[in-house]
Amino acid sequence: MDLFEYQARDMFEKHGVPVLAGATADTPEEARAAAEEIGRRAGGVTVVKAQVKTGGRGKAGGVKVAKSAPEAQIAAEEILGMDIKGHTVHRVMIAEGARIAEEYYFSLLLDRANRSLLAMCSKEGGVEIEQLAVERPEALAKVEVDANTGIDEAKAQEIVTEAGFEDEVAAKIVPVLQRLWQVYRDEDATLVEVNPLVKTEDGDIIALDGKITLDANADFRQPEHADLEDKAAADPLEAKAKKLGLNYVKLDGNVGIIGNGAGLVMSTLDVVAYAGEQLPGHGEDNGPLASPANFLDIGGGASAEVMANGLDVILGDEQVKAVFVNVFGGITACDAVANGIVQALKILGDEATKPLVVRLDGNNVEEGRSILTEANHPMVTLAETMDGGAQKAAELAAHSAATN
Ligand SMILES: Nc1ncnc2c1ncn2[C@@H]1O[C@H](COP(=O)(O)OP(=O)(O)O)[C@@H](O)[C@H]1O
Ligand SMILES: [Mg+2]
Repeated sequence: MDLFEYQARDMFEKHGVPVLAGATADTPEEARAAAEEIGRRAGGVTVVKAQVKTGGRGKAGGVKVAKSAPEAQIAAEEILGMDIKGHTVHRVMIAEGARIAEEYYFSLLLDRANRSLLAMCSKEGGVEIEQLAVERPEALAKVEVDANTGIDEAKAQEIVTEAGFEDEVAAKIVPVLQRLWQVYRDEDATLVEVNPLVKTEDGDIIALDGKITLDANADFRQPEHADLEDKAAADPLEAKAKKLGLNYVKLDGNVGIIGNGAGLVMSTLDVVAYAGEQLPGHGEDNGPLASPANFLDIGGGASAEVMANGLDVILGDEQVKAVFVNVFGGITACDAVANGIVQALKILGDEATKPLVVRLDGNNVEEGRSILTEANHPMVTLAETMDGGAQKAAELAAHSAATN
């Protein structure tokens, strides 16, 4: 989960990373009140900043300096409702205005390819760092960080030396990097980025813009992180699936997908998308008449309960017109999966209103198929092959779209 800048600011503050005063506002009036309060510290100057989960807000006009509280109100009026790279601004942060002397860059991230952590640091911050990395890679220091020792004083020193800071500034940055390491470790982050990390005219080092990505795998030991979720942006079906412990991602199509194993589900999405494209005609939006409605990996267990929960979420998606269940029996054999489907349909009862195409293969496939044949559920069609099943499901979804 990515955090908003104001949430990152608060998290920095909690761990002793130097930040400036900041408060959020959802209306121009709130922005004015906040600016009156916060501006007092900086001769009335505040910065009104769009809170959207994307970078480059400054360039897009989403960061505006205000010399007074009324000016902050006007800036907020302009920024609220603005669209920045497809994100609508619903909230701004009123930040204390900094008198910036220099802008630096720092980030710490999980470097999966090298199975370690990577710190990146540059004296040339503020700008888009991807551009710097391409155009002048020598200006961006990259230092591997051992997750067991993290950024201690020696490591921080190594990073600032590598980045080419002079001794005086380096000495001030070192403790800040150690604090940023605390944020990374204690909050179970996979990314902590500060751009810009600034030196003020008074010589203080301050994190002026922060980005934090939290590791969802650590949610179980970070109960407070649940409060940071952007509930307004969460898809209701995804939220429901999450509650049920399902690995579900909502997509835009009309063919619900259930499979076991992420790889199989991914390729199922591909064959359904392909089958949809082969159908003659186009939908209202000029796209194919059938395409995948979701990703759902029910994992190895595939019990009746998991199957019922999965079907419940998928059938709750109004866009879904047909469902393709594509399961490869392994340790959980096909007969167990077939029983799961039969029981799931019993649990769902009258709610099982959309056609289900089931393709089983692998361990005990014959037993699995005969269980479904015997159950003879009016909504269930058996498919011999994955491609055949995808085609059938796509046709059913397209047919339903055409008749509705
Ligand atoms: N509190 C602040 N005081 C003064 N200038 C700021 C402040 N916050 C941001 N800026 C300026 O605006 C620029 C862009 O802001 P930033 O928060 O980095 O947004 P983004 O990275 O999304 O463009 C910064 O590089 C800095 O020059
Ligand atoms: Mg920035």
